Amino acid sequence: MASFFRRCVSSQLVRICGGSEEVFIPLLSAVPVSKRQLTPDFRLTVSSLVQNGVLSPEEDLLSHTERITKQLKVNGVIEDVTMGRGVISFRINRLLLAQKVLSELREDPQAFGVKSEILRTLPRGRTLVEYSSPNIAKKFHAGHLRSTIIGHFIANLKQALGNDVIRVNYLGDWGMQFGLLGAGFQRLGSQEKLKENALQHLFEVYVQVNREAEHDESLRSDAAEFYRCLEQHDEQALLLWKQFREITVQEYRRIYQRLGVHFDHYSGESFHQSKTQEVLNDLRTRGLLKTTEKGTGVVDLSEQGDMSSYSTVVRSDGTSLYITRDVAAALERKQTFGFDEMIYVTDKSQSVHFQQLFQILRVMGHTWAHRCVHVPFGLVKGMSTRRGDVVFLEDVIDEARNRMMHNMNQSKTSKVVCDPELTADQIGISALIIQDFKGPLKADYAFDWERVLQAQGDTGVFLQYTHARLRSLLRTHGDETHTHLDASHLQDHRSISILQHLLRYDEVLRQCVLELQPRYLVNFLLTLCHLVSLAHRDLPVKGSATAVAQARLHLFAGTCSVLANGMKILGVTPVEKM
Ligand code: ARG
Repeated sequence: MASFFRRCVSSQLVRICGGSEEVFIPLLSAVPVSKRQLTPDFRLTVSSLVQNGVLSPEEDLLSHTERITKQLKVNGVIEDVTMGRGVISFRINRLLLAQKVLSELREDPQAFGVKSEILRTLPRGRTLVEYSSPNIAKKFHAGHLRSTIIGHFIANLKQALGNDVIRVNYLGDWGMQFGLLGAGFQRLGSQEKLKENALQHLFEVYVQVNREAEHDESLRSDAAEFYRCLEQHDEQALLLWKQFREITVQEYRRIYQRLGVHFDHYSGESFHQSKTQEVLNDLRTRGLLKTTEKGTGVVDLSEQGDMSSYSTVVRSDGTSLYITRDVAAALERKQTFGFDEMIYVTDKSQSVHFQQLFQILRVMGHTWAHRCVHVPFGLVKGMSTRRGDVVFLEDVIDEARNRMMHNMNQSKTSKVVCDPELTADQIGISALIIQDFKGPLKADYAFDWERVLQAQGDTGVFLQYTHARLRSLLRTHGDETHTHLDASHLQDHRSISILQHLLRYDEVLRQCVLELQPRYLVNFLLTLCHLVSLAHRDLPVKGSATAVAQARLHLFAGTCSVLANGMKILGVTPVEKM
């Protein structure tokens, strides 16, 4: 498929320009399918050859382009070569296009795209992805939903491309808020309510105690006392803290399961609390820890050593900070997992925090800090539910499911779905994910319940609908992919557009992984679905001659696997019926 064609074109280019196929292969890009006309399949930008040192910068681009185009030969694979301004376009044999793409898809649908040669040059290894990381007792807000689904996508993508992936959830399970919560719970909490709905109850206690603490001096000192007890590992205090933690983690697990998300490790700030002393000692020995007039301990991060930028790592009372725990956590992860790269997913308000974290690690002499990455995302505005303003993750997915149930009840086809509630849940979640992934992650976006669940727009519902429709077609007519494929029946405009589009799948994955952004894949799949819906209309299976019907089933089956594979990377579970 794409690799085969890139190789064929590249071998000719080597003959003409010298260099090696390895250089040319990633420079040949598959051309996006145009709405109106049949496009060429691959394109080579001649200036990229100059940039890569294959061609000399002395000669001008036009004459390079002319010279190369003239020497390229059309053959059984390359059907046509045309020259534009600084680009050379290739059209490949249509029969071969259909045969190669569909036979590769038939042989190993899971490998399609992800084993491509243009992905082989990317660094591989062990990737640790930290995501979700909610704060116990604080509300699990829209930002945590974003971190959860984005991190899940990055982990899936890295894994699909052959990396060894470790998924970590770093809970906000330590800090002054536990002083307030502990003291608050002793006054206002109820064990019964805690068992009924832990997150809700802890949240209520937390909100109320925060409010009361504003004018209640004794509550504030109780809170400080409780936190001090925790820091000193007082048994009673720890017992209550442990209970909060365990109960909430159980709840989270349930929600994660519903989202199809999982973690290899649950860690948290509390785990690294005790290690912060070692970090401080280490910084001190290396001469990096400075004490300010106020008595705080800081690390100078300025280039000139003039404290024009610095990070505070220890308070004047000796207690550690969020960043100190992060340094400790990073060091321990490196030791335990020996990762090659580490990715953190949080909202963009923490960008400076992570820059400083990576800088501290670098000044400590850890060169691997260069392979630590922060993936920041923007705010979601207006994600409230019918119940009110407080946004718990679970309320949002419940709402998506209920609205989806309502829509499904009004359509005729969904009567055949065997577990409508589960299906509605999965489609509702897909809708949330796709809406979230459509733009650049860093941008804020306004959440819109009406738009997110539309069946025909560019939504997760549309992806699911297209997948279910393809599956239903394949169920009705039998998945004929074991039969002989006569590609001459797939030479029409609709079939060729789909095949050309599939050629781009590997490039799209490459773009996603280079930038750690899902929107390229989302848009690729949405376009695929639009092409499929036209094909449904123009390329009927029912009533067509056997060989034609079979060829079309091959096309639909191959398309369906790419759609399903792409959806799974995005973290969307494809449904069979809806
Ligand atoms: N718990 C934090 C929050 O909700 C996010 C943690 C991000 N990860 C980290 N290693 N600091 O804001």
